Amino acid sequence: MNHAGRHAHRLEDHPDRLKWNARYQEPKRLQSRDTCPLFDRATSEGIPDGPVLELACGISGQALALAETGRDVLAVDISDEALKRLASAATARGLESRLELAQADLNVWRPPAGQDYALVFCVMYWEEVVFDYAWTAVAEGGLLAWQGFTLDHLRYRPSQKRDWCLKSGEPASRLPEGLFTVLHEEDVDEGHRVIRRMVARRDHA
Ligand SMILES: C[S@@+](CC[C@H](N)C(=O)[O-])C[C@H]1O[C@@H](n2cnc3c(N)ncnc32)[C@H](O)[C@@H]1O
Repeated sequence: MNHAGRHAHRLEDHPDRLKWNARYQEPKRLQSRDTCPLFDRATSEGIPDGPVLELACGISGQALALAETGRDVLAVDISDEALKRLASAATARGLESRLELAQADLNVWRPPAGQDYALVFCVMYWEEVVFDYAWTAVAEGGLLAWQGFTLDHLRYRPSQKRDWCLKSGEPASRLPEGLFTVLHEEDVDEGHRVIRRMVARRDHA
């Protein structure tokens, strides 16, 4: 679907919301996920103090883990099913005051004006238009961490939409020159999917 098409949808009948709400009701997705290797990598690089933004969070383990360490986390997703799940996990752990959840279509959503983040994090969601505003929300010294399918994933799943795969060099190649230092980049063939992970730090001006 092109972006003009996406803009035409109200949230309640947005196809991404309907698709993902149905997926989050499948038994295999009932458990909240633990943190993931991209998160471990970002943590080992050192996340400066400050709030965190997670895009397409799903039922994110890392949003909870970060809130547990005292960070304020803004987590955005189109699926109210996922956000409901995340909200109850946060309440069960007494973290609701640290975790702000926003239901939105990331193609039209934008980060709050005047706020920047110590970490902007996104796992398994790729839209160029989203990445192109995501980096602008990273604070100086902060991290941008991204993971998505690469075009090599099409070997395993030819029906996967090409636009939702990272092209050669992406996402790092979409960062403006001289603003970020790429700390980590790797492609991983897991035998059923091929993904790329990238962690970059925004330079101090
Ligand atoms: C592959 S899942 C990844 C979820 C989570 N990051 C993880 O790694 O478990 C993709 C996520 O993107 C969300 N999503 C899909 N389309 C979206 C859109 N247009 N706006 C916001 N979120 C969207 C889905 O609801 C889903 O939670």
